[in-house]
Amino acid sequence: MIRQPATKYTAFPPVRMTDRQWPNRVIERPPVWMSTDLRDGNQALFEPMNADKKMQMFKMLCAIGFKEIEVAFPSASETEFGFVRQLIEGGHIPDDVTIEVLTQAREHLIRRTFEALKGAKKAIVHVYNATCPTFRDTVFNMSKAEVVQMAVEAVQLIKAEAEAMPETEITLEYSPELFTATELDFAKEVCDAVTATWGATPERKVILNLPTTVEIATPNIYADQIEWMHRHLERRDSVIISLHPHNDRGTAVAAAELGLMAGADRVEGCLFGNGERTGNVDLVTLALNMYTQGVHPGLDFSDINAVARTFEHCSQLPIHPRHPYVGDLVFTAFSGSHQDAIKKGFSAQKADEQWAVPYLPIDPADVGRSYDSVIRVNSQSGKGGIAYLMETEHGIVMPRRLQVEFSGVVQKHTDTHGGEVSAGDIWQLFSAAYLDATSPVRYREHHLFEHGHGEDMRQGIRLSVDINGVPHLLTGEGNGPINAAMHALETAGIKVQVRSYEERSMVPMGEDGNARACAIVEMAASGRGETFGVGIDSNIVTASLKAIISGINRLGLAGRAEQAA
Ligand code: KIV
Ligand code: ZN
Repeated sequence: MIRQPATKYTAFPPVRMTDRQWPNRVIERPPVWMSTDLRDGNQALFEPMNADKKMQMFKMLCAIGFKEIEVAFPSASETEFGFVRQLIEGGHIPDDVTIEVLTQAREHLIRRTFEALKGAKKAIVHVYNATCPTFRDTVFNMSKAEVVQMAVEAVQLIKAEAEAMPETEITLEYSPELFTATELDFAKEVCDAVTATWGATPERKVILNLPTTVEIATPNIYADQIEWMHRHLERRDSVIISLHPHNDRGTAVAAAELGLMAGADRVEGCLFGNGERTGNVDLVTLALNMYTQGVHPGLDFSDINAVARTFEHCSQLPIHPRHPYVGDLVFTAFSGSHQDAIKKGFSAQKADEQWAVPYLPIDPADVGRSYDSVIRVNSQSGKGGIAYLMETEHGIVMPRRLQVEFSGVVQKHTDTHGGEVSAGDIWQLFSAAYLDATSPVRYREHHLFEHGHGEDMRQGIRLSVDINGVPHLLTGEGNGPINAAMHALETAGIKVQVRSYEERSMVPMGEDGNARACAIVEMAASGRGETFGVGIDSNIVTASLKAIISGINRLGLAGRAEQAA
């Protein structure tokens, strides 16, 4: 960055308030939501939505639960005008939804706006003019009095038009544009003039929308400004204070949250933060932030992927993979320690208890996301994620030391091949390492028999295996099938010790619908170290024998068998 003169940017002066209340407040209820996706969001697109896409978006906004939707700037273009007509004439507006339309404070634009609204049951007419010094002095060359006059005349005309259209219930919304850059006492003066001209009452409230048209200060400054207006506006009981944060500093969500704590009643914004420049406040993040604080937002994002796909289709804008609550990667952990903690958290989480899964601020299921995508494995991952995928996708619960051993196999693969490995890749690696049917020692069949009587009775086995392609029939006895098999294998020169043994039934079942058992045996052989062997079969004993043979292959003991043969 080039060195700037100290005067080029100056910190926004804080509002002179020593008794601000908002820092002590929390958000206890949702605001009135207003989606401006079809107006502020739409006007910021490379290619504004056509009528079909606008209708698709409108229907989705209604389904999410928005009761106020700014649908167009009807005087701006024929498409905008036509869309309002299509909504009204086609009977597309649900009874509990109020459409909103934007107009500048100019006579011909206001009149055209009312033409668009003919036949609507109810509507919010949103009028704005610029009130801040830069616009007064540089853009429009207007005095403060002229700015107030402009707002008042616009409201008088809207009032007259509304009276001439008694079949439509009109609510007035007024925005002092660049509110946050406007002197507070002047913003109040204009807003009070609007409230008085409209004749607002507690039964017929006016919406005063206070936008951060351009976000120029920290969110606490916005909160101060809102609290100041909340405390100083005339006829407060006849006013709905609305927030309209933009995101130039990346703090629109925080600004909206603090603004609500400061006394606002309503929030305007767009899904996923679409809107001019860096966007309007992201209503999805704002709503789900409330949700995770125990306040139901009254908006339904239980199938957030469907909302995201419709949004992307209509706006032609991609959603960032790390976008809060919705990005493709936000319910995914690559880091091994995170995966480990998440896996443990999921195991401990009870359905009816407070959510406490580490690293996940929200239950993915609440927004229609699945647990399956939570754990992804790359070269940074550890055993936790791998174990989770093996358990959830393939029904294999790995003992801890096997997790460590197998994570080395996966790590070697990702180090060589790079990138991410899927649950399917992991299964292939596991099969190749532990279940490989092409290994030198292969199980063919076995027969168990009992030898002796009473307390002297022993378990006998006839074990048929291929060793390097040569069939062997081995016989052994022991205190159980595994012990007997080990003695049988010793007759072929293969001597191993079993360190631990586990066997579980696998969920899900096999493709044939039959239950299967997975045996996991930890084994050692002198001079060969230790490893695990794994066997899967619908017969428990067969699974155990396959596990022992798997371990023999991993220990590289086929050569010893050859020497003995
Ligand atoms: O950002 C803004 O100030 C606006 C107004 C028209 C409300 O969009
Ligand atoms: Zn805006």
